[in-house]
Amino acid sequence: MISFVVATERLLAKVLEIQELSFLKQQDDLFIFGSNEPVSGPGKQVLLNLGFVKIFEDCYVPDQCADYSRERIVRVLFESIGAESYLKRITIQKNVGCYQVLLRRAVNQTPNLSRVLDVGCGPGTILDAVDGNSFHITGFDFVEDNLVAARKKGLNTVGSKELMLLPANSVDLVICSFVLHYESLSLAMISQIASLIRPYGLWAANFHKDRGYSWFTEMLIKTGTYHLRTEESEFGRLLFATKLES
Ligand SMILES: C[S@@+](CC[C@H](N)C(=O)[O-])C[C@H]1O[C@@H](n2cnc3c(N)ncnc32)[C@H](O)[C@@H]1O
Repeated sequence: MISFVVATERLLAKVLEIQELSFLKQQDDLFIFGSNEPVSGPGKQVLLNLGFVKIFEDCYVPDQCADYSRERIVRVLFESIGAESYLKRITIQKNVGCYQVLLRRAVNQTPNLSRVLDVGCGPGTILDAVDGNSFHITGFDFVEDNLVAARKKGLNTVGSKELMLLPANSVDLVICSFVLHYESLSLAMISQIASLIRPYGLWAANFHKDRGYSWFTEMLIKTGTYHLRTEESEFGRLLFATKLES
């Protein structure tokens, strides 16, 4: 499948009318459609008119989904894509380059940086960017298939339940590469992840096409006091948030 569309019940009847799309499966009250071609022409226009946005390589989700959490819709989309197809869709050098820039800057700004939590680790891309022995890296992702692929690659991983059990102040750096522009983390999750960062540790991230920056920083500062620095880059705006106190 090249295209995936995640639809809510309210949009179901209209999406069923789009000929290029086949209904694949229902996951609770969400409906997943797919196509072996990129959705184009009238079908794409119907999606855009219904308020869908293309959030990842020919994949669409509703932009406004009042009764549904963005976290759940994005999770269902990445579960549908899976690790193997994810890797076929991306230009991995771009993701690797982003990790390298974030890590290089983070190391320069943070003394004694070794414990790294890669939030939205995907299939373990970070291991293509760094020598795994230079840092103690743990990957977290809400898609099990990605965690399986990341572990096969040699990354130490945690799922959502294990993430909750990590001790406070046990991480020097949280890194997010091509994740936060999806705006798919709840305040509770941001708060939980932020609690893992030790004082004067860092949350470093890129905001692809500069999307999600205001959303994220507004949430982050609700969880504690941070010194924020930004930088423009080919990967969108970069954020380096040093945690001062919880
Ligand atoms: C575009 S991929 C980037 C993967 C990896 N960082 C890379 O650069 O190859 C986005 C990843 O973020 C994950 N993700 C998005 N929102 C998440 C959340 N709230 N919790 C955990 N993982 C999340 C997705 O499952 C997906 O693996």
